[in-house]
Amino acid sequence: MPEMTTEERIRDLESRNEAALQGGGKERLAKHKESGRLTARERLEVLLDPGSFVEFDRFVTHRCNDFGMANKKIPGDGVITGYGRINGKLVYVYSQDFTVFGGSLSATNSKKITKIQQMAIKNGAPVIGLNDSGGARIQEGVESLGGYADIFLRNTLASGVIPQISAILGPCAGGAVYSPAITDFIFMVKDTSYMFVTGPDVIKAVTHEEVTKKDLGGALTHSAKSGVAHFACEDDKHCLLMIRELLNFLPSNNIDDPPVLPPKDVVERIDERINTIVPDSSKKPYDMKELIKMIVDEGYFLEVQQHYAPNILIGFSRFNGRSVGIVANQPMNLAGCLDIKASVKAARFVRFCDAFNIPIVTLVDVPGFLPGTEQEYNGVIRHGAKLLYAYAEATVPKITIITRKAYGGAYDVMSSKHLRGDVNLAYPTAEIAVMGPDGAVNIIFREQIAKAGADTAVKDRLTEDYRTTFANPYKAAELGYIDEVIEPIQTRRRIIDALEMLKNKRDTNPPRKHGNIPL
Ligand code: HXC
Repeated sequence: MPEMTTEERIRDLESRNEAALQGGGKERLAKHKESGRLTARERLEVLLDPGSFVEFDRFVTHRCNDFGMANKKIPGDGVITGYGRINGKLVYVYSQDFTVFGGSLSATNSKKITKIQQMAIKNGAPVIGLNDSGGARIQEGVESLGGYADIFLRNTLASGVIPQISAILGPCAGGAVYSPAITDFIFMVKDTSYMFVTGPDVIKAVTHEEVTKKDLGGALTHSAKSGVAHFACEDDKHCLLMIRELLNFLPSNNIDDPPVLPPKDVVERIDERINTIVPDSSKKPYDMKELIKMIVDEGYFLEVQQHYAPNILIGFSRFNGRSVGIVANQPMNLAGCLDIKASVKAARFVRFCDAFNIPIVTLVDVPGFLPGTEQEYNGVIRHGAKLLYAYAEATVPKITIITRKAYGGAYDVMSSKHLRGDVNLAYPTAEIAVMGPDGAVNIIFREQIAKAGADTAVKDRLTEDYRTTFANPYKAAELGYIDEVIEPIQTRRRIIDALEMLKNKRDTNPPRKHGNIPL
């Protein structure tokens, strides 16, 4: 073959690049778009700052010769990998291309993905995976399974070192769901994304259950029922923009500080409604989300796992430009009590914030743990202990505000002074005791109440006595368990002051290989 001129070589490169950009071909790309999904490359355009994407391994192909695969090679092999910027900050990305063998994972796909995972760990930048994959590439057998395990290992080693974010943007089956499961946040898209270990057909064959893809593993199932997903988005674009939004709250790695944005709100801003948000009757609910919005910068709360365990709220906000994680009991749901789901939801969030140096603000209105056989049989002891453990081991600044109830074990759990809470405040409406007045008098005055029979005045008087003695913040304040009882309108100012005071906080745990959180 005659030697090519430089000019010809450049043309050759162009045509190779052109072929790689076609993914599985025009027809498959068109079919993919008909399903309402963006293509793998379009997704990267929406996710990253314009023009910032730099691709690796565009010409990598698979090495499988079985099942007629030898002559079905597509440059890139169905996953686009590289790095780019989000609001100027470095991120590593991979985007699976469903038009190439259904985005299924080959051994070479895995090498491409682990290459950027390793770079991300070395260079301290987040990894964002855009998943759209039928799982292990069936034609490659165990090579593909090994490829998955190589990714899972890097996911695990990167956990707590760099933020890892997964978007599920199509039908993700088998191995395609376990890597996302190890990452910190999972975004799904309503109507076009699914996650399951085994799909409806296998389920039907094995258990005879009939279930649709959507009911089994759609965005709402995983947001509301299983708690696997953290965000349920409207479409691909919304999802990718939400990821950009989330990244604005996060540091690039575990030795970086979270971003402090130029403040867009006034430190002294007071929302007068806050002084009356806690109702006079301690039995009446109120919306803790409203309270959060009154105190954070511009009222902006990026809620995480909105549809799962709504009796606890978790999410990100800013105080005077500084990122914080917020954990708050929600009296509007199950009276804000802690149960298995709420404990697990909040525990994972607290650990994320702690791993990435994000201060935690905890708003407490909790009547206790949810009683019942269902909870006990399913291990509320073990799961509730996760939240206790997470708060106890967290060394980031911890600011706690008791707005109303803080009863029993739940008082201890919710970032109490005893678990190294740095600044613990309470409203005058706080009730801090072993249990609520009704339950308490029934136990400690059982005989008197029984003797009084139909005369309810006796129980009423005892309940009132108990309320005056214990159902207030002052016993705890006398003991120094509460640093200060504040008027609710002071909340925003106090939190901003505390965050400033704690900004150089240093605290450590004893050296060890790792703790043994009750999983
Ligand atoms: C190779 C695959 C594939 C796979 C899909 N394709 N999944 N090729 N390996 N795992 C190919 C199809 O053959 C098809 O090729 C193209 O991708 C598009 O697939 P369709 O079925 O036409 O698309 P759709 O109807 O949208 O269904 C998508 C799907 C379905 C739900 C993902 O393809 C499916 O169920 N795939 C198999 C899922 C699965 O069981 N994976 C293995 C899991 S085991 P053509 O050329 O016809 O267009 C696993 C083990 C890892 O992952 C465990 C680690 C812990």
